[in-house]
Amino acid sequence: MNDLSPACSSDLHRASEHWDRWQTTRQANGQIYADWGDHPTVFKAVMRECFGNENHDFFTYLQAHYPHCQTAHALSLCCGDGSFEAQLIHKGVFERITGLEISHERIKHGQTQIEAGHLSEQMTFLQQDVNLGHFGAACFDVVFAKAALHHIENLELAFEGIKRCLKPGGLLVTIDFFGPTRFQWTDEQLHACNWFWEHRVLPTFLSDADNSLNEPIRRPSIESMINMDPSEAVRSSDIMAHIESNFQVLENFALGGTVMNLLLYGNRVNRFNEKDPFHNAILEEAVLFERQLLDNGVLSSDFRFVIAKAKA
Ligand SMILES: C[S@@+](CC[C@H](N)C(=O)[O-])C[C@H]1O[C@@H](n2cnc3c(N)ncnc32)[C@H](O)[C@@H]1O
Repeated sequence: MNDLSPACSSDLHRASEHWDRWQTTRQANGQIYADWGDHPTVFKAVMRECFGNENHDFFTYLQAHYPHCQTAHALSLCCGDGSFEAQLIHKGVFERITGLEISHERIKHGQTQIEAGHLSEQMTFLQQDVNLGHFGAACFDVVFAKAALHHIENLELAFEGIKRCLKPGGLLVTIDFFGPTRFQWTDEQLHACNWFWEHRVLPTFLSDADNSLNEPIRRPSIESMINMDPSEAVRSSDIMAHIESNFQVLENFALGGTVMNLLLYGNRVNRFNEKDPFHNAILEEAVLFERQLLDNGVLSSDFRFVIAKAKA
């Protein structure tokens, strides 16, 4: 099945080319972590802050609190290469997943992985634009969206589609970026991030060949964001309002990232060796620093783990 909207075909085409390139260059350059949340030390610290135990994660939380989902057929929006979905199936969180994705390269890579992992019966990819909201009627138990909704411009159609495709009592489970649209970082978060980088990360650690790691983090221009990927954070700050008006929010965990995402942006995250106690101490301190700013209301959480139920 191939469902790509001709209405926004130029932006969609550019976004899909961006993600095709991302998939192929990622494989080639051997980058370990793609973003802040991938770093094991950071991930554990965030899990500790959210669930009170660094050995807990999204999988264990869903298994413990929503055990009926283990027989669920889930629709995963913007599923990329489906590697997270493979884990959801493998760990028995959901039984079956249909993944929607626009990037041909991501699907191709995912398909190979799924076949190698003998999961073809449980995971299916469809190349489809999530903006259209063409997800069917009352056919899924769960809609899952990880790093997905912030790539959607037509939130109105997408949310209509999400509600329509859920069976009665069905859940929306999302782990996403809800921060400033088009990465228009607030002054407060830029200040916090650059202060920490300058004062708490020692200069010797920062040096790199072209000195680019030492540059302060800045707010990108909207034009540069659109040129990079027209779908990136296209309406991210509007997502929560759409969830709240269509769904009853059952869980809403603040994952942070308001400082950490900027601090470890791009390849900076790969400077931190998870086996080096000195590197880990900096990361632990940074997560606590961010948490204090969130708890004191100085910053709000850019990333959230939300579970919601369609309003009757
Ligand atoms: C940040 S990645 C997240 C991928 C995956 N969910 C994960 O967490 O690893 C965003 C994905 O959304 C896809 N995407 C962007 N716009 C889309 C759209 N309109 N419809 C379907 N997929 C889209 C991109 O190709 C990309 O693979």
